[in-house]
Amino acid sequence: MSDNAKLDVRGESIELPVITGSEGEVALDISKLRAQSGIITLDNGFVNTGSCSSAITFLNGEKGILRYRGYPIEQLAEKSSFSEVAYLLYNKELPTKAQSDKFTEQIAKYASLPDGINGILNQFPATAHPMGVVSSTVSALSCFYPEFLNSEATDDIKNQALPQLMGQIKIIMANFYRKTIGKDPIASNPSLGYSKDFLQMMFGGEVDKEVAEALDILLILHADHEQNCSASTVRVVGSSHANVFASISAGIDALWGQLHGGANQAVLEMLEAIKKDGGDYKKFIDKAKDKNDPFRLMGFGHRVYKNFDPRAKIIKVACDTVLEKLNIQDPLLDIAKGLEEVALKDEYFVQRNLYPNVDFYSGIIYKALGIPTNMFTAMFVLGRLPGWMSQWKELREDPAAKIARPRQIYVGENERNYVDIKDR
Ligand code: CMC
Repeated sequence: MSDNAKLDVRGESIELPVITGSEGEVALDISKLRAQSGIITLDNGFVNTGSCSSAITFLNGEKGILRYRGYPIEQLAEKSSFSEVAYLLYNKELPTKAQSDKFTEQIAKYASLPDGINGILNQFPATAHPMGVVSSTVSALSCFYPEFLNSEATDDIKNQALPQLMGQIKIIMANFYRKTIGKDPIASNPSLGYSKDFLQMMFGGEVDKEVAEALDILLILHADHEQNCSASTVRVVGSSHANVFASISAGIDALWGQLHGGANQAVLEMLEAIKKDGGDYKKFIDKAKDKNDPFRLMGFGHRVYKNFDPRAKIIKVACDTVLEKLNIQDPLLDIAKGLEEVALKDEYFVQRNLYPNVDFYSGIIYKALGIPTNMFTAMFVLGRLPGWMSQWKELREDPAAKIARPRQIYVGENERNYVDIKDR
C-alpha cells in the first residue's frame, strides 16, 4: 500500500504523505501543501485537523475509549490516585514507590504562596468569579518566580513547574474560597494526600476518606483529554515560548467558556432552573431542539465522543456513592436522571449522537461536597492542570514543534482607495 495520497485540484495532481498513528489512525500530512501548490486547507473549529503528534492521551470517540499513556481510564479511576496519574501523564510512566514519594515531597515544597500572591488574592472582591481569580493569579506567579521567564524550557523549569503548580493552585483556590465566606485560610497539609488536603483547606475538620476518594476520581477523569480547546490554547501560547505560567493561565481562560469546562456550572444552573420551573424537563428538551432558541442542553454532546463518554459512566456511579455516603437526597439528581432518560430516547438527540458528557453529573458531586456552583469550573482546572502541563512539556520537547500560526481564506473587500472623512 502506498504511503502517499494523491490530491487532484484544478487539473494538478499533488502527492501528500500519509501518516499512521500507533492506534491505526490515519492522517494526510498537508504541511507542505501550500509550498507545493499554493493551496491551504480550511477547517473551521479544527473539526478534522491534527495539530500535532502526541503520545499522552488516546481517545476513540466512536468506541468510547479514553487512555492516558496507554492505561484505560476505567483502571486508573479504580486503582490509581490523582498524584500518580499526574506523574504518569507528565513523565510517561507510572512512578515507582520512590518516584511517587519524591513527587509528593516536591508538591509539599509548595505548600504556601509568596506573600505578594496572598496580597493579590486579598484584593479580589469576594464576588469575583473563581476562574478569573485562578487565571490571573497563575499568570501573576510568573512575576514572583523570574527564573521561569527563561524562554528555554530547561530541565530545571520542567522538573519544578508541575509540582509547584499542583501545590500552589489548590491553595489559591481554597484561600480565595475562604475569603468569599469571610474566613481565614487553612494551611495546606500535603501529608493528607492531594484531594483530602484540598478539602480540609476548603472546609476544615476531618475529611471523610470515601469523599476524598470520590474527588480524587473526579480529578483523574478530568486530568487530560488530548487536543481540546484549552489544551490547544496551552500549546498555541507555549509555541511562542511564552513562560509556562502564561501558557497555563491562557488554558484556564479557554476552559472557562460554557461550551467547554464552564458547562459544569451551566448544568447545575440548568437543573436548578428546571426544578424551579416545576421539574418539567420536556419543556427544556423542546427548547434545546428549537433552532430559533439559543438554549442547549448543557452537559450533553461532545465534539469527539459520538457514542458515550466513558468518563460520564464512571462519574454517574461516583455520584450515587457520594450522595449515599453523605446521606444526601438531591432532587437535582432525579431531574438529571429523568432528563437523560428522555433525551436518550428523543430522535433529535439520537440522530445527532448527543449523550451526557463528563460535566453532566460532576456538578451534583461538587454540590454534595459543599463546593459553590461558581467554583465548579475551577475544580475542572484542578483536575486538568497535569494534562495541560504534559501537553506543554511535550510541545517544548518536540523537535518538529513550530510557532502556531494558522492561515485563513480572506473574504473581505478587494483593494480600494482611502476616502477622506468629509466625502463619506
Ligand atoms: N443541546 C442541543 N443540541 C445540541 C447540543 C446540545 N447540548 N450539542 C450539539 N447539539 C446539536 C447542534 O445544534 C447541531 O445540530 P444541527 O446539526 O441540527 O445543526 C448538532 O447537534 C452538532 O452540534 P455541533 O455544535 O456542531 O457540535 P460540536 O462538536 O461543534 O459541539 C459541544 C460540541 C460540546 C460544544 C456541543 O455538543 C455543546 O454545546 N454541548 C453543550 C455544552 C457542553 O456540555 N460542553 C461540555 C463538553 S464536555 C467537557 C469538555 O471537555 O469541555
